[in-house]
Amino acid sequence: MTDILSKKLESKLDKKLISKSKRKTLEDGFKKGKVVNEVLDKPTVMTLYKMIKDHVIAYVNGAVSAGKESVLFWGVADDNSNVALKIYLVSTSNFKKREPYILGDPRFSNLKKGTKNLVYLWAKKEYRNLTQCFDAGIPVPKPLHVTNNVLAMEFVGENGAPGKSLLDSPVNENDYNQAIQIIDDMYRKAKLVHGDFSEYNVFKTNNGLVVFDLGSAVDLRHPNTQEFLKRDINNITRFFRKRGVSVEDPVQVFEEIVK
Ligand SMILES: Nc1ncnc2c1ncn2[C@@H]1O[C@H](COP(=O)(O)OP(=O)(O)OP(=O)(O)O)[C@@H](O)[C@H]1O
Ligand SMILES: [Mg+2]
Repeated sequence: MTDILSKKLESKLDKKLISKSKRKTLEDGFKKGKVVNEVLDKPTVMTLYKMIKDHVIAYVNGAVSAGKESVLFWGVADDNSNVALKIYLVSTSNFKKREPYILGDPRFSNLKKGTKNLVYLWAKKEYRNLTQCFDAGIPVPKPLHVTNNVLAMEFVGENGAPGKSLLDSPVNENDYNQAIQIIDDMYRKAKLVHGDFSEYNVFKTNNGLVVFDLGSAVDLRHPNTQEFLKRDINNITRFFRKRGVSVEDPVQVFEEIVK
């Protein structure tokens, strides 16, 4: 692509990205245009532009949250529905610690070298994990699309504000039972172990719990499946116990799921 063309595309995209935004500043004080320009590198901006051209989204309405390795943007589709855009950051990523969750999973055996490829693969992996769960009827944000490091999925929440996590919600025994049911269904129906199941990665909505952040989820053929499953059960049990909910013995829960 010539430089002039790519400059043109970029300025067109910048305008598209920020033209329809209503709120001027984000809670963290960043101007929206600035976030787009400073957080997203050029290839990511081009990927978003491609997704606009392909009608996955009509425009990007601003950043929702910034994690260490991904940022979440609020996109809007042609039909005005909200879309969550999880953008994995290539530049700042510390993907070394993610290798154990990809190496050993036979679905991703021919791994190409290089951080960028690993990041792209990670986005694809989360998309596939979401799809496997969605198809098995497990409550996850509906996966919509993945290109490079950008994953598009159903937006859980309203007007660009994400739903409340378990951590930020009052919880009861019914929520505990649902959480264990999700872990069980993921294992038995979707043949996956979440790997990072916690009060941070589950929304509590009016229609029940919705689990997300599935990048770490591994196939049951992965050699560390049992260890990850135990850890997931332990973590969520600890959370509910701390909140005063009566919980079952995590060892028994584990035995029950894998039997
Ligand atoms: N589908 C979605 N709809 C609405 N909000 C979402 C969605 N997915 C993620 N979020 C919001 O973005 C935040 C980060 O998403 P996620 O946990 O998947 O990324 P992460 O890389 O693990 O980030 P962190 O390091 O902050 O946990 C979530 O806590 C949630 O508030
Ligand atoms: Mg998370």
